[in-house]
Amino acid sequence: MTTEFQCLQVSETEPKQFNLAITTKHIDELPAGDVLIRIWYSSLNYKDALSASGNRGVTRNYPHTPGIDAAGIVEESTDERWKAGDQVIVTGFDLGMNTSGGFSQYIRVPGNWIVKLPDGMTLRESMMYGTAGFTAGLSVQALIKNGITPEKGPIVVTGATGGVGSVAVAILAQLGYAVSAVSSKESANDFLTALGATELIPRSDMEDQTGKILLKQRFAGAVDTVGGLVLATVLKSLNYGGVATCCGMVNGGELPTTVFPFILRGVQLAGIDSVEHPIDQRPSLWELLATDWKPAGLESLVHELSLAEVPDAIQTILQGKMQGRVVIRVD
Ligand SMILES: NC(=O)c1ccc[n+]([C@@H]2O[C@H](COP(=O)([O-])OP(=O)(O)OC[C@H]3O[C@@H](n4cnc5c(N)ncnc54)[C@H](OP(=O)(O)O)[C@@H]3O)[C@@H](O)[C@H]2O)c1
Repeated sequence: MTTEFQCLQVSETEPKQFNLAITTKHIDELPAGDVLIRIWYSSLNYKDALSASGNRGVTRNYPHTPGIDAAGIVEESTDERWKAGDQVIVTGFDLGMNTSGGFSQYIRVPGNWIVKLPDGMTLRESMMYGTAGFTAGLSVQALIKNGITPEKGPIVVTGATGGVGSVAVAILAQLGYAVSAVSSKESANDFLTALGATELIPRSDMEDQTGKILLKQRFAGAVDTVGGLVLATVLKSLNYGGVATCCGMVNGGELPTTVFPFILRGVQLAGIDSVEHPIDQRPSLWELLATDWKPAGLESLVHELSLAEVPDAIQTILQGKMQGRVVIRVD
C-alpha cells in the first residue's frame, strides 16, 4: 500500500479567502477510524460547494478535504463487518463536513457509516446517484409510504435540473408517475423531457405572491428541493390529501406558508434528511436504486470530471447553474 496519496484540499489563504488545490498527503494524516478505503469515485453536491467555499455552517476548520460522497474498495479494517477487497459506499454522516472527505484517493471512517455496494451496481453508478440521488430516493420512498401512487396524479419536482431534482424526475418517471418539472432553465426543456418529465413549469410560475391561501389543486405529490416561496406555492397547489417532501433550501430557508393547506386539504409535509438517515435503513434503498428504480437514462444526466476539474464545477453549482449530476473520477 502506498503511504502518500492525492486529494483536493481547501485552504483559507487569507481571512475569508479560500483556495482549492490538489495536495499530496500522508495516510497518517487521515482521521482515526475503523476502515481505510481506497476511493475510486466521488460526486459533487451542493453541500460540497458550500464546504469548498468556506461555509462554516458546513465545515468549521480549514485546511479541509471536501466530498460528502465516496465509493471505493476497503484496504484495511478493524471492524469485523468489513474486510479488504469489499466494494463499499459512504454518503453523509460527517464525511466531507468536518471529517476529511471523498475528494481524495483515501478516506478513513467508522465502520457504521458504510454500506456494501449492492449487486447490479458499479462503484461509478453509486456515485451517479451519490447523496443527491439517495436523497431523491428517500423523497420518492416518503411519497410511496404516504400512499401517493401514480394513479393519484402528477408529482411536481422543483429544482428539477439540479442533482436531487433530476434524479427524482428520472426515478418517478421510471416508476410510472406523471412528472411536472419546475425549472428556471428554459434551455433544459429537452433534458427534462428526456428524463421523463411530462409537464415543464417555469420557476416563476411557482413563486406565488398573490397572498391567496390556496391555489388550484394540480399535484398529488411533490419532491421539493428548493424550499422558500416555491415550496409555499407547491403546498397551496397540492390536491386534497397531497404529500410534499422537503429536503433543500436554495430558494430560501424561510417557509412563508399558512396552516390552510394542512387544515383545509389534509396536506402533509415530509422532511427528508440523508445525512443521519439510519444506517440499517440504507441498504434496502440502495438495492432499489440498483434494480427496479434505476432509470434507463441515468447515464444521460451525468458529467464525469477529474479532481482537477472540480473547482470550476463548484462555481457552476454555487451559481445555481448545475444540470444533472457530476461524478468525480478520483483515481
Ligand atoms: N436534506 C438532505 O439530506 C439533502 C440532501 C441533498 C441535498 N440537499 C439540499 O437540496 C438542495 C438541492 O441540492 P442539489 O445537490 O440538487 O443542488 P443543485 O444540483 O445545485 O440543484 C439545485 C437546483 O435548484 C434550482 N435553483 C437554484 N437556485 C435556485 C433559487 N434561488 N430558487 C429556486 N430554485 C433554485 C436550480 O434548478 P432549476 O434551474 O432547474 O430550477 C438548481 O439546479 C440543496 O439545498 C441541498 O443542500 C439536502
